Amino acid sequence: MLLSQLLDLAGVSSVVLERRSQAYVEGRIRAGVLEQGTVALLHRAGVGERLEREGQVHDGFLIAADGRYHRIDLSGLTGSHVTVYGQTEVTRDLYAAREAAGGVVIDQVADIRPDAHGPHIDFSREGAPDRIECDFIIGCDGFHGPSRPSIPISARQEIERIYPFGWLGVLSETPPVERELIYAASPQGFALCSMRSDRLSRYYVQVPAGEDLADWPDERFWEELKDRLPREHASRLVTGPSIEKSIAPLRSFVCGPMRHGRLFLAGDAAHIVPPTGAKGLNLAASDIHYLSEALISYYRQGDQSGLDSYSDRALARVWKTVRFSWWMTKLLHHFPDADAFSNAMRRSEFDYLVSSEAAQRVLAENYVGLPY
Ligand code: DHB
Repeated sequence: MLLSQLLDLAGVSSVVLERRSQAYVEGRIRAGVLEQGTVALLHRAGVGERLEREGQVHDGFLIAADGRYHRIDLSGLTGSHVTVYGQTEVTRDLYAAREAAGGVVIDQVADIRPDAHGPHIDFSREGAPDRIECDFIIGCDGFHGPSRPSIPISARQEIERIYPFGWLGVLSETPPVERELIYAASPQGFALCSMRSDRLSRYYVQVPAGEDLADWPDERFWEELKDRLPREHASRLVTGPSIEKSIAPLRSFVCGPMRHGRLFLAGDAAHIVPPTGAKGLNLAASDIHYLSEALISYYRQGDQSGLDSYSDRALARVWKTVRFSWWMTKLLHHFPDADAFSNAMRRSEFDYLVSSEAAQRVLAENYVGLPY
């Protein structure tokens, strides 16, 4: 949707195919922390108005381990900040913008078969077969979408790490514990206090892989969360009924190259990061930054060079962010198979972080987002 909007502003037309309905897409709760680069890109796409009004600027966050906590002063360390604004809201703004511009979004399509060399896409709509002939196919169809598997296995390399736990997330109409986010490590596992507004909180706790949502009534969730927070934050936690609850598995995954013929991959179709640090949406946005520039110079000047270098440019930033998300996950989670040495290293890493401004700057620089 973002690419379609950016291309439209440059006079390049596109068609968006979506497997789900608009209501489904707009109802899904996703992460909520935007890098400055993402915010700037959304402004360039003409969808920054509500974000500017309703997004919360966060100049820092708290990081806690075993009851102690420390503030990471993002603006002091980097001169930058992040913006708390739900991915769901970004999606709503993009749907509204595409509709206002008369953009073509065909939803509830099935049997999507991209052909990178046609190029064309076969699909079905209300049971009837259809085909779109095009110049390029951009696979922004997520980890489970048909674009990546349409690339022959011999033409792609995939590297993966699966973590032995997931995140159980709860959205509740309660005031947040603090004005800033709290990332907390504890012997029982990781917990995160986030928010969407002054009245809407978003919380997560680490749970074992394969956990059943039915085993997590709200009371159990709140108890577990409270147990994992430093005492003074736990005492301030306001609980209430959950309005959304879901479990997400954790994985690091990269597929390269991000191009095959006239098919280009972007976002989760090519890479997944564990959610710690909220990089998934931001990485998808940086892919779209590179790809929109490349496509626009192709159509304006007939210049292929951006398209040819897209995969290398995007992957360079992807790998740095995969490293950061992996590092933050390792620092804050309880690994069931960790031995005494790895636990000691984790404690020592935290001690170093809270005692070294240089270490904090490394964290802050990655958290606010590496340059494009
Ligand atoms: C949120 C999600 C994250 O993964 C994160 O690191 C911070 C915030 C969220 O959903 O608010």
